[in-house]
Amino acid sequence: MGTFQAIRGMNDILPGESALWQRLEATLRETLAAYGYQEIRLPLVEKTELFARSIGEVTDIVDKEMYTFADRNGDSLTLRPEGTAGCARACIEHGLLHNQTQRLWYAGPMFRYEKPQKGRYRQFHQVGAEAYGMAGPDIDAELIGLSARLWRRLGLQQVVLQINSLGSSAARAAYRERLVDYFTARRAELDEDSQRRLAANPLRILDSKNPMMRALIAEAPSLLDYLDPDSQAHFERLQSLLDAAGITYEVNPRLVRGLDYYCKTVFEWVTDTLGAQGTICAGGRYDGLIEQLGGPAAPGVGFAMGLERLIAMLAAAGRPTADPPHAYLIAAGEEAQRAGFALAERLRDQLPALRLQLHCGGGGFKAQFRRADHSGAQLALILGENEVAAGTVAIKPLRAADGGQVTLPQGEAAAYLRAAALEHPL
Ligand code: HAM
Repeated sequence: MGTFQAIRGMNDILPGESALWQRLEATLRETLAAYGYQEIRLPLVEKTELFARSIGEVTDIVDKEMYTFADRNGDSLTLRPEGTAGCARACIEHGLLHNQTQRLWYAGPMFRYEKPQKGRYRQFHQVGAEAYGMAGPDIDAELIGLSARLWRRLGLQQVVLQINSLGSSAARAAYRERLVDYFTARRAELDEDSQRRLAANPLRILDSKNPMMRALIAEAPSLLDYLDPDSQAHFERLQSLLDAAGITYEVNPRLVRGLDYYCKTVFEWVTDTLGAQGTICAGGRYDGLIEQLGGPAAPGVGFAMGLERLIAMLAAAGRPTADPPHAYLIAAGEEAQRAGFALAERLRDQLPALRLQLHCGGGGFKAQFRRADHSGAQLALILGENEVAAGTVAIKPLRAADGGQVTLPQGEAAAYLRAAALEHPL
């Protein structure tokens, strides 16, 4: 009988990696809290119609990437491909948008049936932030500033901010017509994908990664020349806010995003360190979405970041991916095991931050030392018959070159560990 494997594009996060995930998530939570964002927890499954109406029928996501299935009662349900739609649905449903502002964040797995490759998966994790009820560019700038602070806190330097404005829907419609004229006149030069997009979603041609299309796209009319005065002023004000805070950016008039709900500001944080899947965070403004979903006329803006991509950057920068124990307690013989268990519990009382692994499963000193070594611990705490009789414990560095061993009264072990393992990691 064959063994089972995970579904293609859906990854296990193994114990050797999970510590880095936890540190990343803790930094994200702290930073979001520092800006006054509150967590909202949302279901993984929503009605299919919610995504079709918000992300847009002719987007790649809705057209060909959703995990859609019939519920047992015949309703069409979909595993969420992103969080903005569900968050909007929840806020409308619970009346959180009537004459109020909200700053919210969510985290968790998203599902898209994409072609798996490095940095692109079918189950991936996002942390997203959404702000409602604020129409001005100040909140756009806040979200961008928050993400910039995150990269600083995480020590990620090779990231570039690209911004653009998609204008009002009327301005975009006018631009769309110009673009269709332009590409129709040069139809023979379009690749297959772009020919398909010309009818369904012509702005997405600007997103083409095909190098053969580059010149054609470079000469296409620019969206920024078609902006309505309100969007123009919004975009200028956003840039002046970013300038004032020293946040550098590139204006990229070809940045259009793959979801239909955006208007005015859109932005992406991009790195050249991850290969083809270089966007680590993306978002923008979506002032019409809440109303379109049956809610009040509340403006919205937000972003989401891909955690797998951030983890890849952190790991490439040499950040440790696991948290090995500080100490591993070895005890040979029945009496020593009793004393060892009691000592381990006392040390955990005294040092809540200490990561102490107790040897379980018996065996002689040699086998136990092998396990201690394998655990990655900095120190071995050793109890044999002599130590038990004298009420002492031997402590041996496992990683340091000199390997000097000390023997202490058990009552002094906590102070020693605090200095050696917690304050001065070896
Ligand atoms: P998105 O651009 O589709 O936007 O995704 C946001 C981020 O999620 C991407 O920049 C990327 O880091 C990550 N991501 C997307 N697809 C994958 C994948 N298949 N594998 C790995 N990572 C991926 C949204 O989802 C919008 N809801 C963002 C937003 C929030 N806009 C306003 N509010």
